[in-house]
Amino acid sequence: MNITTCLFPAAGYGTRFLPATKAIPKEMLPILNKPLLQYGVEEAIDAGFNNMAIVTGRGKRAIEDHFDVSYELEAQIRGTDKEQYLVEIRNLIDKCSFTYIRQNEMKGLGHAILTGKPLINQSAFAVILADDLCTAEEGVLSQMVRMYEKYKCSIVAVEEIEKNQSNRYGIIAGEKIDDDCYRVNLMVEKPEPEEAPSNLAIIGRYILTSDIFDLLQNQKPGKNGEIQITDALMKQAQQGKVIAYKFKGRRFDCGNLDGFMEAVNYYYQALRDNT
Ligand code: G1P
Repeated sequence: MNITTCLFPAAGYGTRFLPATKAIPKEMLPILNKPLLQYGVEEAIDAGFNNMAIVTGRGKRAIEDHFDVSYELEAQIRGTDKEQYLVEIRNLIDKCSFTYIRQNEMKGLGHAILTGKPLINQSAFAVILADDLCTAEEGVLSQMVRMYEKYKCSIVAVEEIEKNQSNRYGIIAGEKIDDDCYRVNLMVEKPEPEEAPSNLAIIGRYILTSDIFDLLQNQKPGKNGEIQITDALMKQAQQGKVIAYKFKGRRFDCGNLDGFMEAVNYYYQALRDNT
């Protein structure tokens, strides 16, 4: 059975972008004229997903409004040259459904994913963290779906990082089984560089088999007192059921100002090159 649901944890406060994120969800911050979350949804649609499951929280209503028709706006611009600006988002809304659930306590990424459980009714699902913005010839999630079809287990996307950055990521170690693939045997959430088992960092793209929910349910708080998806995945890894895939493409860490600005510059240049 194809996997068709992509989960977007989007309940975080976005404190690093205050005051911009005081009233605007961080997932709605735009790279050029498009919110971060829309890039993620487009990547999921390209990979064949048609149900977007979004874990939101207080103050995130703009997300629901964005992925809905705005009759007033449509009526205002109908027949004018401004209509073109809505074509893309209209097409996107037509192609998929959106379901929402609220996370009312911030207890970590693992907890956010567990909160999304009622929205998932398949044996596997994808997760996109929208502030990791990825650009690639073939979308990163599409690449991962191919890996899932081959290995039929959880897949995490990884990239090489400078070791001194290890305390910002989940870090994996494993046995290389193919050019870009490792069978994971160790996963550590945000280790200090001297404790990092490798320089392969997990980025915000996952395909998870649904047994992850039982593992998350029983997962004790880990790093920073939060329920970590990395720790629950480690239990699957102990059974050889996690593949780390070194994706082709480029990732921008839009969760911090430097990465955000790099993304803006990159997309602006690409826009200029195409016009
Ligand atoms: C989360 C995960 C971490 C992963 C990262 C990717 O951390 O816990 O393992 O490497 O996303 O962006 P966060 O950035 O939410 O602190």
